[in-house]
Amino acid sequence: MTQPFDAIDVIRAKRDGRVLSADQIRWVIGAYTAGQVPDEQISALLMAVFFRGLDGDELAAWTRAMIDSGVRKDLSGLGRPTADKHSTGGVGDKTTLPLAPLVAACGVAVPQLSGRGLGHTGGTLDKMESIPGWRASLSDTEYLQQLHEVGAVICAAGHDLAPADKLLYALRDVTGTVESIPLIASSIMSKKIAEGAGALVLDVKTGSGAFMTDPDRSRELARTMVGLGEEAGVRTVALVTAMDRPLGRSAGNAVEVAESVQVLAGGGPADLVELTLALAREMLAAAGRGDVDPADALANGRAMDVWRAMVAAQGGDPDAPLPQPAERHVLPAPASGTLTRLDAYALGVAAWRLGAGRARKEDPVSAAAGVTWTATVGEQITAGQPLLELQTDDTGRIPRALEALEGAIGVDTDDTPLPLVLDRITA
Ligand code: URA
Repeated sequence: MTQPFDAIDVIRAKRDGRVLSADQIRWVIGAYTAGQVPDEQISALLMAVFFRGLDGDELAAWTRAMIDSGVRKDLSGLGRPTADKHSTGGVGDKTTLPLAPLVAACGVAVPQLSGRGLGHTGGTLDKMESIPGWRASLSDTEYLQQLHEVGAVICAAGHDLAPADKLLYALRDVTGTVESIPLIASSIMSKKIAEGAGALVLDVKTGSGAFMTDPDRSRELARTMVGLGEEAGVRTVALVTAMDRPLGRSAGNAVEVAESVQVLAGGGPADLVELTLALAREMLAAAGRGDVDPADALANGRAMDVWRAMVAAQGGDPDAPLPQPAERHVLPAPASGTLTRLDAYALGVAAWRLGAGRARKEDPVSAAAGVTWTATVGEQITAGQPLLELQTDDTGRIPRALEALEGAIGVDTDDTPLPLVLDRITA
C-alpha cells in the first residue's frame, strides 16, 4: 500500500525546525503503532522533537493521534459526574488511595487507571497489591459495574488505552528523549483523556524526588497539560506541589496503604491530609460539586466506607493484616533542632533499594519493604530520637539503603523547604 507521507520527510522537517501538519503527525503515529515505521526512524523524530519542540497545534495533533491509537472511554452512561487525578509521581505520594474513595463519597465517580512504579517513585498498583487478595486487573464490565455501584475504581490500564504511548514511552526511555515537556505532556494527557473522565486534576510535583526538579519547568509542564485537557473538552486544573521532601511519613507499599487508611479514619500526617483535601476540593469543583466539603466525608466515615467497598469489590480484604518486614533498622536523629532537610530523592532511593521498588518493569516488589519517618521538615527533633526506620525482608539490602541516605537529613541548615502547594494553574 502506498503511504501518504514518507517518514524521512517528517523527520527532516522537524529536524530543520519546520512545523508538522496535523495529517503528517496523525500518519506517523498511526503508522508507527501499526508497525509500518521502524523504531530507528521514530527515535530520530523523537530526538528532533526533543530539540525543536512542538507548537500548540502540533502538540494537540500529536496528543489526539495518541488518543486515537486506542479507545476513548465513554462514561456518560454513569449518570453522575466523573473526575480523575494524575500525579507526575513522587516519594511517599499515596494521595490516590484516600482521594478516590473520598471524592466518590462526595458524589463524583473516580475512574482511576493506574500504573506500577519504576525507579525511585512508587506505583499505585504496587501499593494496592500489598492488600491481601486485591487484584489490579478488571474486565471492562467489572470496571463499569464497580464505578456504578461503588463510585471509585483503582485498577490497571488496559492495552486499549493510548497504545501508541506504550511504544513511544519505551523508545523514549532508551533514546534519552524522556525529558521533553511536549512529549511528557502528550504521553500523560493522551492516557488521561482516553480514560473518559469529565474533569481532571493534575498534581505536578517539583523538587528532588520529582520527575521535574525545577519549579518553573514544573509550572510549564502543568500549563501545557492543562491546555491539552481543556482543548479535549476535559475540565482540567493543576496544582504544582512540593516534592523536595517526601509526602506523609512513609514510602513503600504496605506502609503507604496503612497511612492512607489512617487518613480515611480521620487521622494521618498533616501534609498528606492537607494535600488530599486540596486535590479533593479541586476534583469536586471541576466536576461541578464545589459546594460539597470533602472534610465532612473524612470525619463521618463515609470515605472509609467507600474504601472498604472498593477494596472488597476487587477481591481484597480491608481487615486483613498488612505484610510486615522481617527486618527493621532504626536511624536516630543526628542533632537537636529544626529538621530543615529530608531529601525526597534519597528516601525514595532508600525505599527502592530495600525492595519497595523495581529497576526493570518485570522485577517483583516487596510489599513489606519501605521507610517510615517520625518527623518532617519544619518540625523540632532531638538528637538520638528514632528518626527513620528502614524496613526490608532482606538484611543484605540495608547497607546500600543507608548509603542512599548519606546527606539526606539536615538540622538547622539553610535549606528552605518549598510550600506544600506552590501554584494552581487553570486554563
Ligand atoms: N509519565 C508518563 O506517563 N509519561 C511520561 O512521558 C512521563 C511520565
